Amino acid sequence: MLKRIKYISRFAKQLSTPEIDELAKIAGENNSKKDITGALMASGGIFFQVIEGPPEAIDSLWSSLLKDPRHKDILLLKSEEGEMERLFPEWRMKKIDLDRNSDIRNEPLKAMLQTVLRQSLMIYELTAVLERAAWAEMVEAN
Ligand SMILES: Cc1cc2nc3c(=O)[nH]c(=O)nc-3n(C[C@H](O)[C@H](O)[C@H](O)COP(=O)(O)O)c2cc1C
Repeated sequence: MLKRIKYISRFAKQLSTPEIDELAKIAGENNSKKDITGALMASGGIFFQVIEGPPEAIDSLWSSLLKDPRHKDILLLKSEEGEMERLFPEWRMKKIDLDRNSDIRNEPLKAMLQTVLRQSLMIYELTAVLERAAWAEMVEAN
């Protein structure tokens, strides 16, 4: 049984290249002890990460990730569980730092990540509107 989670988040503050390197290195060391594999992409202040492994190990990592102050606006893109093959069987935590890679072929990927982030901010805004509406209704009812 394998569980796989994909999410995006925003850097809580600007992270330097050595800081991202260090984060990915420690993540890889921890993951190898827990049979977790995956990839971590960083671009324009956004993380996109895929983690996969035994369901309990992934659930536990996910709750740590939600509490990690180094990133915010964590948006779960997909969570799946079942008899699946790993996407990254060889990668303890592969770091892909797109900001350090000026290859023009990566531009569409960077643009896509920015678009996904903008969409997630729209979802937050929509929720805020709904909350305000619910609040207004409650006040009116009283
Ligand atoms: C973007 C990002 C990705 C991370 N990826 C991993 C990871 O793949 N594996 C891992 O063990 N920790 C990862 N961490 C660190 C965890 O959030 C957490 O600090 C670490 O698992 C220790 O958690 P604990 O103190 O709850 O045991 C990541 C942190 C960030 C900000």
